[in-house]
Amino acid sequence: MKDGFGRDIVYLRLSVTDRCNLRCVYCMPESGIRKLRHEDILSIEEIDEIVKATAACGISKVRITGGEPLVRRGIIDICRRVAETPGINEVCLTTNGILLPKYADELIQAGVNRINISLDSLDAVTYNKITRFNGLDDALIGLNTAIKAGFDAVKINTVLIGGINEESIYDMLALTRKYKVDVRFIELMPIGECADWSEEKFINASRVLQLSPELREIGTDGVTKLYMLPDGLSTVGLISPISSHFCPSCNKIRITSDGTLKPCLHSAEEIKLRGLHGAELEQTIRDAIYGKPKKHGLDDGSHSDAIRNMNAIGG
Ligand code: 5AD
Ligand code: SF4
Repeated sequence: MKDGFGRDIVYLRLSVTDRCNLRCVYCMPESGIRKLRHEDILSIEEIDEIVKATAACGISKVRITGGEPLVRRGIIDICRRVAETPGINEVCLTTNGILLPKYADELIQAGVNRINISLDSLDAVTYNKITRFNGLDDALIGLNTAIKAGFDAVKINTVLIGGINEESIYDMLALTRKYKVDVRFIELMPIGECADWSEEKFINASRVLQLSPELREIGTDGVTKLYMLPDGLSTVGLISPISSHFCPSCNKIRITSDGTLKPCLHSAEEIKLRGLHGAELEQTIRDAIYGKPKKHGLDDGSHSDAIRNMNAIGG
């Protein structure tokens, strides 16, 4: 359905847990998070009911996120139910890749079409610094498993952090020459853990074009600007939530693992879905979509108004 500004809302980001096996510096405190209690997290049946209701409101694509979705008990069952929901024709999952060797085949069988792997560096020292975990090898084995497993597409998401992982620009671009793996560079957003980081950490995604002028523009995909290297096999995308005003083409809503609907990532507004059923649930979702804010104010230098860390929202 269309929101109050005429945007067609077809895409749901569904967080199934706030827990994670990594501690990325921009996402979670080192000590970890105060975990939601088991009973505060949506059950598989509740997720099923909510996803069906969003599909009735016009959602056709679901991205399953976390925290790290693969640490959620019953994740394969959740993926299968989402994929079997009438009206849902695309199921994607965003993961840090560590558990993919264990789950890739089951995810495909459950109906997951696409995988995004969050990977900010191919250098072990930088990877450890960002994730606070000595896991680059595991992440790369996960990436390899995903490439071979037969998903429709495998993407890498790289968040650019000034002074920390700029070398990843070259390393990730090199991957697109060799593998069927699309790379997306994402501007760091000042939300949660990194809300008050110094300015030099926030680098413009156009830095990728400066460093690699041979990239050719080939189009857009939602909020992503797409490019390719002349000798590339796969695409390179720039996602610029800060520098480019992409709110007019936003087609998403988000649901957190404790069952609230967030019409906008950067708004404090959260609508409780837990405990609602049937027509009431569906009408609440319709009202929330209709009331989706026009834009965030991050490009005006203001902070996100989101009241949670990213692990609790799912990106
Ligand atoms: N800015 C941009 N991207 C972020 N992510 C987490 N926190 C931030 C942030 N502050 C990304 C993760 C992952 C996705 C779910 O969201 O790296 O790719
Ligand atoms: Fe985990 Fe993703 Fe947050 Fe890193 S960014 S700590 S992988 S949820």
